[in-house]
Amino acid sequence: MDIGERVLGHGLRWWARHGGIAQFHRPAGAAGHVAGWIMGRRSSNVTRNRWAAKLLDVGPAERVLELGCGPGVAVAALAGRATRGLVVGVDHSPVMIRQARRRNRAAVQAGRVRLVPTPVERLSLPGEPFDAALAVNTLGMWPEPAARLRELARLLRPGGRIALVSQPRCTGATAATSVAAAEELASLLAEAGFVGLRTETLDLDPPVVCVIGYVSGRAAPAPS
Ligand SMILES: C[S@@+](CC[C@H](N)C(=O)[O-])C[C@H]1O[C@@H](n2cnc3c(N)ncnc32)[C@H](O)[C@@H]1O
Repeated sequence: MDIGERVLGHGLRWWARHGGIAQFHRPAGAAGHVAGWIMGRRSSNVTRNRWAAKLLDVGPAERVLELGCGPGVAVAALAGRATRGLVVGVDHSPVMIRQARRRNRAAVQAGRVRLVPTPVERLSLPGEPFDAALAVNTLGMWPEPAARLRELARLLRPGGRIALVSQPRCTGATAATSVAAAEELASLLAEAGFVGLRTETLDLDPPVVCVIGYVSGRAAPAPS
């Protein structure tokens, strides 16, 4: 672990104990800007988001939805892959949407990235279905996540995929915490009707888990 990551990690744990955790649930005001700044630069956060975007294996012409996009790190990675497609990032924090817009300015201007300030529980995105969806360290903050996942399944095309990513940030989190998080994500996806579930792990401290599932209607590709 590099020194910057360690210093940021200590600072974040102190901040969380002193009420800063709310800023990662719904960043607002000056403290929200700081939370977004950290999420956009902390090496584990950036690595985790880029890894997740790679796992989703987005093609050049695909339409991708990211829920709880924060400062737009994964949006940038997804837009780098969907070069002729569309990436829609959703977050209920206007501060995060502004940071994500700044981080993805050129792609927004080119019409390849759209950023929507709305809560996932009030998501309304008329138009063509999406090929893929991503949610990184956010689903635990949503009201009634299983209901949200059922709604998301309706926004995806048959055979479309979703990746739910978690790196537990609670004090004392270990590899066992990550395994438990993956099991919970898989059970929520199964409850919402997703099929072909598989889990991938990224060896950070604590490990990052990504559970991928498919909307039924077409055979899920074999795990690589
Ligand atoms: C811990 S941050 C993670 C941000 C980003 N996914 C990342 O990994 O850098 C959680 C994000 O989810 C957003 N969020 C939490 N609950 C939400 C909800 N109900 N609707 C939309 N966004 C939500 C927060 O505003 C915040 O930006």
